[in-house]
Amino acid sequence: MRLSDCHNIDDFRLLAKQRLPWPVFDYIDGAADDELTKARNTQAYARADLVPDVLAGVSEIDTSCTILGRKSALPLLLSPTALQRVFHWQGERAVVRAAEKYGLWCGISSLATVSIEEIGAMTTAPKLFQFYYHKDRGLNRSMIERCQAAKFDAIALTVDTIVAGKRERCARSGFTSPPRFTAASALSYAMKPRWALDYVFREKFALPNLDSHVREGTGEAVSIAGYFNTMLDQTLDWTMAEQLRDDWGGKFALKGVMSVADARRAADMGIDAIMISNHGGRQLDGSRAPFDQLPEIVDAVGGRIEIICDGGVRRGTHALKSLCAGATAASGGRLYLYALAAAGQDGVERALGILQDEIKRGMQLMGVKSVDQLTPDRLRWR
Ligand code: FNR
Ligand code: LAC
Repeated sequence: MRLSDCHNIDDFRLLAKQRLPWPVFDYIDGAADDELTKARNTQAYARADLVPDVLAGVSEIDTSCTILGRKSALPLLLSPTALQRVFHWQGERAVVRAAEKYGLWCGISSLATVSIEEIGAMTTAPKLFQFYYHKDRGLNRSMIERCQAAKFDAIALTVDTIVAGKRERCARSGFTSPPRFTAASALSYAMKPRWALDYVFREKFALPNLDSHVREGTGEAVSIAGYFNTMLDQTLDWTMAEQLRDDWGGKFALKGVMSVADARRAADMGIDAIMISNHGGRQLDGSRAPFDQLPEIVDAVGGRIEIICDGGVRRGTHALKSLCAGATAASGGRLYLYALAAAGQDGVERALGILQDEIKRGMQLMGVKSVDQLTPDRLRWR
């Protein structure tokens, strides 16, 4: 299988599986417990059907929208994901460049393998920094200041990762950050020599947004679960979130809101956006799918706060359905991560090109010329 054989996101997944050592593939592909929530995140989109109009004259259409005050060429945002250098040696640079080319917002994780400063200098495209709230207050302060200096457009505080989800694939493989070459894992790496050579001989793995403050995850190999449970602050609450928003002073989102009560509280606090998300099913298994939860949140706070529907998106029509249900935009991680792992920047560009095509074609087939015409009357729930 080659990159030119990839025609949808599942194809990139297969190519990634072919090219990655299995512990790395399972870190991306895996989720918590029985992985029910991960599966439902995508299945949920099959519970609602689009109802197209015809004869609408759709030779020229506009797929753009505004997210957090900046224009996006598509109603789609690339969610922040950790450790991209491990998936492909081009890491975040590949994703940022591809996002810029397609006019999209790009999320950068606290656990990114390229620094806040370098990303800031690389692109004027809209950038969101994903904030993990650490016990180390000096580290929290430094991340905010670095994002301010690098002119990030928004910060999203992740709120669904107060402790680590139970990711059994990672427990079985012993996946660590950075990957550790143990006797048990050596074979899986040896079987993928191209990945292994790129990993060993290209730029060294680092977590430059953290490593001035913590050794874990940079110098020392730690499990992601171990990192969350020891480094992140389990006392995090609304007062601390509000303080963080005020210290930052710019556009601010909460990533991982699921309940109506929390959505109301965020809107009352004047937070700019919520990302309805269960972390791609990697945290609380059994949690509801964001798309299923979207209508009741839209009913409660729609119009008062931007609502981004995060997770399970594998098709352009999934983004269109989210918008019909009242979301400002959809977002996803694996939709570009499989492609990054499969083929670096070329892979991400091909994946985004496919999604761009699917969104445009879907709007034309629905008789819709702009995203604000994606309204609830064009969607029926089964
Ligand atoms: C993530 N996600 C994530 N979220 C976050 O807030 N900080 C992070 O560092 C990461 N890292 C991360 C790594 C990997 C490998 C994955 C798959 C996901 C969650 C991510 O932002 C997003 O919520 C999910 O990816 C959405 O689900 P889909 O689109 O992957 O189905
Ligand atoms: C994950 C992180 C790092 O989901 O958020 O693995």
